[in-house]
Amino acid sequence: MSVSATQGLEEVVAADTAISWIDGRAGELRYRGYPIGELAESSSFEAVAYLLWNGDLPGAQELRALREELRARRMDRVNVLELVASVPLSGHPLDVIRYAVSRDSLSNPLAWDNGPEANRRKAVDMAAWFPLAVAAYHRRRAELDPITPRPDLDTAGNFLYMLYGQVASPESTRTLDTALILHADHELNASTFAARVTIATQSNLHAAIASALGTLTGPRHGGASERVITMLEEIGTAENVGPWVRERLARRERIMGFGHRVYRTVDPRSRHLRAMAETVLTGSEQEAWIAILDELARVMARDKDLYPNVDLYAAVVNRALGIDPDFYTSIFAISRIVGWTAHAIEQLSGRMIRPTARYTGPGLRHVLEYRGNRTAG
Ligand SMILES: CC(C)(COP(=O)(O)OP(=O)(O)OC[C@H]1O[C@@H](n2cnc3c(N)ncnc32)[C@H](O)[C@@H]1OP(=O)(O)O)[C@@H](O)C(=O)NCCC(=O)NCCS
Repeated sequence: MSVSATQGLEEVVAADTAISWIDGRAGELRYRGYPIGELAESSSFEAVAYLLWNGDLPGAQELRALREELRARRMDRVNVLELVASVPLSGHPLDVIRYAVSRDSLSNPLAWDNGPEANRRKAVDMAAWFPLAVAAYHRRRAELDPITPRPDLDTAGNFLYMLYGQVASPESTRTLDTALILHADHELNASTFAARVTIATQSNLHAAIASALGTLTGPRHGGASERVITMLEEIGTAENVGPWVRERLARRERIMGFGHRVYRTVDPRSRHLRAMAETVLTGSEQEAWIAILDELARVMARDKDLYPNVDLYAAVVNRALGIDPDFYTSIFAISRIVGWTAHAIEQLSGRMIRPTARYTGPGLRHVLEYRGNRTAG
């Protein structure tokens, strides 16, 4: 059976990977064999980065070495702050990262080196400086000066420090760290596929990541998250959920944060994010959102057989951390850079990805006939 492009490659196996695994019916996700729930509860984002890049969880010494390398790269890449200071303020934060990746590719001496060591170094480098770019642009929007990273903080702690200008609480740091673990990889999602397609031509890691960043922007992928807060504000109360959803569905609109190409049940990442959302919302001004989110999940399951995806609760968690909605996709990218680079490096040894299309245009016709008809007309 030929697969129509309108089916969006659903269920087509388009790559072999040893990085992550999904069972969409059971709602399971594993990184390198480890269930996502165990990693979220008992690991750290930097240990997960090591796992995704290298295949195994790190020992104490290996983790220390990666942390030291990330720290050194972060301190070395403060030039990113100058770059961010020069971009227009009206841009989308994800476009700022994409611009910075392309700018970096112009002067990075390793840009066109596709050897394993060069690619490993570039992957660590991007994971180190993405948070600098995002925090600096967030502060610029608030008319605040950028803050240079601290040598003693990890990825999550440093990001929040560079955002707030002071060291975040252990609870906030752990919340962000867990959210980063949950977003770090997700098999052949659209942006990872884009990265793999790009590097499969034997281009380079910068080109692959620029493709991935562009793909992540759309509301059917990471861009859903930034629209969730507007939705919650519009709904206002749990009682309003039913009428609000009915009205949107009648207009054939999509409810952000619901549905998934692969999961036919609750996205396993959203289970953890649901619990995290409840923790951060309890006692806050937005405590009513807990009931709204639960009612939304109930109504969508009942009326549409659709379940919360990662973006629904991630939005609430990001909001509680004080992050502006249009930056949520960039928080996703701070984490997913690990998965993208792991996949791109894995794809380098594979074949070029070049599917075929089913032609639906006109049959054979001739230029001279066209000219003749025009003259006659
Ligand atoms: C994620 C998503 C793009 C995956 O969808 P997909 O596998 O490509 O499925 P399709 O876009 O073909 O949609 C299939 C049907 O379900 C409906 N549907 C899917 N998600 C929906 C949603 N969130 N709200 C309302 N209807 C939805 C579609 O309208 C379509 O109905 P139709 O056949 O009557 O036209 C889709 O669920 C979506 O747009 N969700 C909202 C955006 C979002 O949260 N994205 C983050 C993903 S992690």
